[in-house]
Amino acid sequence: MATQAGGNLDGGVVPGGVLPGKHPIQPLHFDASKLKGLSERLLRSHHENNYGGAVKNLNKVEEELARVNKDTPAFLVAGLKERELTFNNSMVLHELYFGNLGGDGKAGSTLQSTLAHAFGSFGRFEELFRAVGSSLAGGSGWAVLDHNFQTGQLGIHWSGNHTQNAAYSAPLLVMDMYEHAYAIDYGAAAAKYIDAFFQNIQWEEVQRRLERAQKAAVALRA
Ligand SMILES: [Fe+2]
Repeated sequence: MATQAGGNLDGGVVPGGVLPGKHPIQPLHFDASKLKGLSERLLRSHHENNYGGAVKNLNKVEEELARVNKDTPAFLVAGLKERELTFNNSMVLHELYFGNLGGDGKAGSTLQSTLAHAFGSFGRFEELFRAVGSSLAGGSGWAVLDHNFQTGQLGIHWSGNHTQNAAYSAPLLVMDMYEHAYAIDYGAAAAKYIDAFFQNIQWEEVQRRLERAQKAAVALRA
């Protein structure tokens, strides 16, 4: 089990893959009592109930899917596959989300330069990322900075639920905009949560994800 950023909390990457129905709940890699503006109660509830619930449900759905055969009604297969996609993406996005928290909120110069090149300035990147997050306030979804393997671009994408993702992209920075990510601390004041999120970003982990994506992009073009 990973206990630091960049381990298994980074997308649930486990050597050899996970057997169906056996996904583990990855622990938080940071001390939940130490984050700025995000309470331990909020973080533990989010981790245990929302993330943990998705992992448990994914395991159950995978066990049910293992029993599918040629006689299984199509509507049951469709329902299980829809739930599988939802719980799988919820698990992965939550692992990436918690994996990019626990830092000091200060991006290194290399990453700042990369984002400035992609978005015009680092400040412009932050403005856009915050705007995407704010557009989801009061509802549900994710704001994601990602590296697109098809275009080679860095982009910021909006998703209204767990199943919307930019195709063929590697998430680099993930912000949960479901109300369960902030309501305990801030009620409906999503802007205050976004401020707190930025204060706790672990940019070193974002940089590691970017470097891995850049290496993967080279391999994928070969
Ligand atoms: Fe969440």
